[in-house]
Amino acid sequence: MKRTAIIYTLLLASFVFVFAFAIYFYNQVQSYDAKIKKNADTSSPSAYHFALIGEEMDHVYWRLVGEGAIEKEGEYDVFVEYEGPKRSNPEEQLKLLDMAVKSKVDGIIVQALNDKFTPLINQAVDQGIPVMTVDTDAPESRRVAYIGTDNYEAGRLAGETLVKDTKGKATVGIITGRFANAHHQLRIEGFKDVLKQTDGIEIVAVEESNIDRIGAEEQAYKMLREHPDITAFYGTSTLDGGGITAAAEKLNRLDDLYVITFDLSDENAQLLQNGAIDALVEQQPYQMGSRSVEIMMDIIKGKPVEEIHHTDATIIRKPDLLYQKSQAGETS
Ligand code: BGC
Repeated sequence: MKRTAIIYTLLLASFVFVFAFAIYFYNQVQSYDAKIKKNADTSSPSAYHFALIGEEMDHVYWRLVGEGAIEKEGEYDVFVEYEGPKRSNPEEQLKLLDMAVKSKVDGIIVQALNDKFTPLINQAVDQGIPVMTVDTDAPESRRVAYIGTDNYEAGRLAGETLVKDTKGKATVGIITGRFANAHHQLRIEGFKDVLKQTDGIEIVAVEESNIDRIGAEEQAYKMLREHPDITAFYGTSTLDGGGITAAAEKLNRLDDLYVITFDLSDENAQLLQNGAIDALVEQQPYQMGSRSVEIMMDIIKGKPVEEIHHTDATIIRKPDLLYQKSQAGETS
């Protein structure tokens, strides 16, 4: 009797799970179709329809990529379907790519997080849909072009900056977005390659934040407890800086830690301003979005395009922030 009850409970639970998943997937397809239909229903639908698929919709960095692309819509008579998982989720991102291929858009611009993106990119190309990668490249795929940071070089730049600022003496903890993300791997590889050449620097721990500020804080906190000798942190994605400095503050380590991380978000700029962060690697997400549309148009029009389009990655320190502000003041 007890066994039958367990079997029924398991069957019921599986049914509820499958049902909930079916509803979730159905809703996603519906919202995607609705957006496409909205474009088709307008009195003069755009001549081209591109899908732009990023890591996370509600994220400061990806919002800029989306805005840059959408800004080009009018100029090129293109409708940019800017999509991404609500919260970073590579499997969901793959599903969005699959849907874009199935809905036969005119061009796909996608952040190719890992190897799993390659077969779908190739499938799109086989069906005559040109694909570009943005922010994170899939060089093994048949994508036509990549636009974004040279992630290996950006990692080297972060390493060189840390060596210089710490005068070649540091015990380092690394917080990375995700171990499996190709661009984060490159950012660590470049960083390590520089540090290898300096005797006084040692990396004692590397953990992932899961593209999450709280995740970064938890990992940095754990690291600082396990390795109280850490004197410097390197964060490879936007939200890592906030997490690292929050953990350092809780442990009263904010003043004596050196922190370098990626991206000039408002939060990171504030932390740089008040001295919690020492240096940032600034990327160009807005430009990645806007240039990706321009390059995709060239591809569609049959113009020759370069395969690699590296956008700038530069080091920003507190004085640069003041300079940027004064420049913005002068031009506004
Ligand atoms: C990366 C993006 C990533 C973001 C996550 C940025 O540095 O370039 O790919 O989605 O960080 O926080």
